[in-house]
Amino acid sequence: MKLEKKDIQGLMVRGHGNLKSARFLLYNCTDPATSCDFLKEIVPLITNAEEKPEKEAIQIAFTYEGLSFLQLPPPLLNSFCREFKEGMTADQRRAVLGDIGDNDPDHWDWGQDSIHFLLMVYAKDQEQLDKSMLRIKEQTDRCGIELIHTLPTGLLQHQKEHFGFRDDISRPVIRELLNETPPENITTFPAGEFIMGYKNLYDEYAPAPHVPFELDTKGILPVHPDFPERKDLGKNGSYLVFRQMHQNVHSFWQYMKEQTGEKGEAIKLASKMVGRWPDGSPLATCPMAPDPELSESNDFGYWDDDQAGLKCPLGAHIRRTNPRDHLVTETSKKDSSEMAAKHQLLRKGRPYGPPVTPELDPQNIMDSGDDDQERGLHFICMVTDIRRQFEFVQNNWVSFHKFGGLENDADPIIGNHFNNGHYKTDEFSVPNYPIRKKYSNLPNFTLIKGGAYFFFPGIKALQYIANHE
Ligand code: HEM
Repeated sequence: MKLEKKDIQGLMVRGHGNLKSARFLLYNCTDPATSCDFLKEIVPLITNAEEKPEKEAIQIAFTYEGLSFLQLPPPLLNSFCREFKEGMTADQRRAVLGDIGDNDPDHWDWGQDSIHFLLMVYAKDQEQLDKSMLRIKEQTDRCGIELIHTLPTGLLQHQKEHFGFRDDISRPVIRELLNETPPENITTFPAGEFIMGYKNLYDEYAPAPHVPFELDTKGILPVHPDFPERKDLGKNGSYLVFRQMHQNVHSFWQYMKEQTGEKGEAIKLASKMVGRWPDGSPLATCPMAPDPELSESNDFGYWDDDQAGLKCPLGAHIRRTNPRDHLVTETSKKDSSEMAAKHQLLRKGRPYGPPVTPELDPQNIMDSGDDDQERGLHFICMVTDIRRQFEFVQNNWVSFHKFGGLENDADPIIGNHFNNGHYKTDEFSVPNYPIRKKYSNLPNFTLIKGGAYFFFPGIKALQYIANHE
């Protein structure tokens, strides 16, 4: 089925990387009617996937609390999935996400208290961003909408994140976006894994919120593909998972130096934790040293050549978050690949805060002291099934201390590392011959500072939300 790009918000198909300045704004509404007036004004300004704006892009997403505040009809509200309705900080969700101890939402800067919607403003430069912000401020002030938090962002050099590793290399390719048949070595995914209203890997329409026919009085929404007596609010939308993750760059490199005593070895250990070298080249294909030719390489697996994790450790960040064709719980390459395919995330995050050094070369990052600056990653991903995709990855692969047959390891980069007396998650194992090497007492290199689950509607769905009665 062809994608209805004009009805899909642009961020689904691009990261707006040409729009270098961006800010994420978290708002609360004070009055449902004036908030809908604001939405009516903003809907025509929302960037769709057909456009490739050169100056400014605006995207919008709502929490369940926000949609309830806007007084959407109860049958519609009920039709959202449980995880979205409960919200990221509900007790059940914290347990699944492993948001305990240092990462308990009680310590977060935002996400624990009410948030109604998120506006993502991207601009070509700071001047344009300031202009856009002024315009939006005038509109929100006039409509009684309160700005709760402003989250700045800042793209870093060489596509890096703050620890100094190249990011944003591996991303699932949506089949329906390709104009021609892809080469055999490229794995593609049906749109329904990320965009509602299309078939997913189970050959079913992704679960989506819907509304009884008679409650779409203005006839804005399409008919739901599975329930002809209902209208589809999900069509061309998605769920947007947002986690603000602080990165402790100093403690990260301090740990690597302490464990190895030498800069080159420190970089090797950090690369083993990530699964790629700082330049992006994958350990699975160049385990001994980075290969600049492979810095964007994404055409590799683990089954044929690295089942033991001698090249890329089993617990490395990229191997946990996307085990590709090798899972120790599966008996074949095919089963592993099918399993991994069902838990893909379409990542759209942006770093925030000043880099420790502008070019983010680990050799130099290691020389700088602790400047105590707030920096990290606004981790964002789109999924049509929060439980099967994001929460599964976070729970079963990132946090599980026995992932891949390991014992006391969580994801070395983003895992919540602790020792609670019953079990611990603060080790990192590097398979080696004849014996593996274990690193202990890993501190938390990242810390959750805020987060929420959002609904990222299609344009017609937005019109419905703005105009519902
Ligand atoms: C501060 C937090 C984080 C940092 C610094 C970070 C860093 C990285 C880096 C350097 C890569 C390699 C680049 C690439 O393959 O595209 C990567 C890949 C990836 N990360 Fe993260 N990440 C963070 C948070 C997360 C979270 C919270 C998740 C999901 C729960 C996640 C899921 C992934 C996935 C799915 C990949 C691609 C793996 C692959 O396909 O091989 N990351 N990350």
